[in-house]
Amino acid sequence: MYIKIIGMIILLNFTLHAEYTDIERIKDMQTMEQAMSKIQKGLLINDKKILIEGANQLQDITRKVEPPLDLNSVLAKENTYKYKFSRKQATKIIKFTGDIKREMEAGNKHSASKGFVNVLDECISCHNKIRKWQDK
Ligand code: HEC
Repeated sequence: MYIKIIGMIILLNFTLHAEYTDIERIKDMQTMEQAMSKIQKGLLINDKKILIEGANQLQDITRKVEPPLDLNSVLAKENTYKYKFSRKQATKIIKFTGDIKREMEAGNKHSASKGFVNVLDECISCHNKIRKWQDK
């Protein structure tokens, strides 16, 4: 029993400190895209449930996404420009996604769709900056 608990604590600790890999990022990005599709579908077929499901999924996954690391940076990860920039993008995506949910709940589909475009703009901003850097 104790061994199991200790084992679980070690495993949890390992999971919490595990590095965020490129493969994980690609997978998370694909989930983000699927979540956006759900939101769009919710708007198009007037289905609040699908929209909220997609919006919650998008907010959850956005909290865990990290940018590619600057391997040659002397700064701690949290102090790099990429990291700070991506945290800012994430905060905005979470906020705009909250707007989508709220507007849909209030029956304002046009306002909800503006929130959707705001989110899309943030996705694009990050791709423009961070993905281009990555290719250099
Ligand atoms: C923190 C910056 C950042 C934000 C914000 C961001 N992305 Fe990405 N995205 C990336 C990076 C970096 C890659 C390249 C991943 C790689 O190839 O390692 C990527 C790749 C992708 C891909 C291609 C995945 C594949 O199959 O290769 C999709 C789709 C995608 N993003 C969707 C989204 C959507 C939708 C949003 C907004 C809801 C979003 N991204 C927001 C950084 C970001």
